[in-house]
Amino acid sequence: MNLLDDDALERSSVVANCRMNRERRLPGYNRELGIDVVDTLRARRRAGEPVRWLDLCCGTGYALGQAADLLGGEGGEGGEAEIVGVDLVGFFARTPCPPRLRLITASVTTWRPEHPFDLITCVHGLHYIGDKLGLLARIGTWLADDGLFLANFDVRAIRLEGGAPAGRRLTTSLRSQGVRYDGRTRRIGWTGRRLIDLPYRYRGSDDQAGPNYTGQPAVNSYYEYC
Ligand SMILES: C[S@@+](CC[C@H](N)C(=O)[O-])C[C@H]1O[C@@H](n2cnc3c(N)ncnc32)[C@H](O)[C@@H]1O
Repeated sequence: MNLLDDDALERSSVVANCRMNRERRLPGYNRELGIDVVDTLRARRRAGEPVRWLDLCCGTGYALGQAADLLGGEGGEGGEAEIVGVDLVGFFARTPCPPRLRLITASVTTWRPEHPFDLITCVHGLHYIGDKLGLLARIGTWLADDGLFLANFDVRAIRLEGGAPAGRRLTTSLRSQGVRYDGRTRRIGWTGRRLIDLPYRYRGSDDQAGPNYTGQPAVNSYYEYC
């Protein structure tokens, strides 16, 4: 199989697809993640410090703008929310107003944050990433000590070199590192900054994998078990 590197994948019509839903509002985020994002941020706010939310593959950023509106002005001086969205395609629906709302056009495979986040999310974005396990490992180091990470994740998109799904051995490895994965809701997450070290080496991705459980064409990621 001809596996793609990140540059080729990011130019692929599957990733630069205009039919995918980039416009979810906050209720859609709450539904897809199984939490109330704004309540989660309020609960994590500490006196005198902004609470920080990073949304990877944020699409238009509608949900982030809505959260910024709801949280803006709460928490007193220096205690507001700082919300950062990152997407490969800069189709943002809101005008950024830093530091409260920053929308960044970049690939999450190369972008790095400047400080830890209390909440990191990725709503239906991991489906389009090449090295999904590598991104999960980096996210582990981007969280605050008691921060929360939550994302939609289809474990069947992680394939071994022969094409078989990495399956139960992968979910067992993930759980041994404190990662929660629910195969029914296809949500992945964990609490707290951590070093995630998985015995998989990334080989490349396949943008011809066809539709996944969302009904949209998605990307399979190939790994060598080592
Ligand atoms: C299905 S959309 C979801 C958008 C948003 N989270 C929502 O729910 O409305 C997936 C998003 O992932 C973005 N994306 C794909 N590959 C990316 C990459 N390497 N870095 C950053 N964003 C990426 C796409 O541009 C797209 O906006």
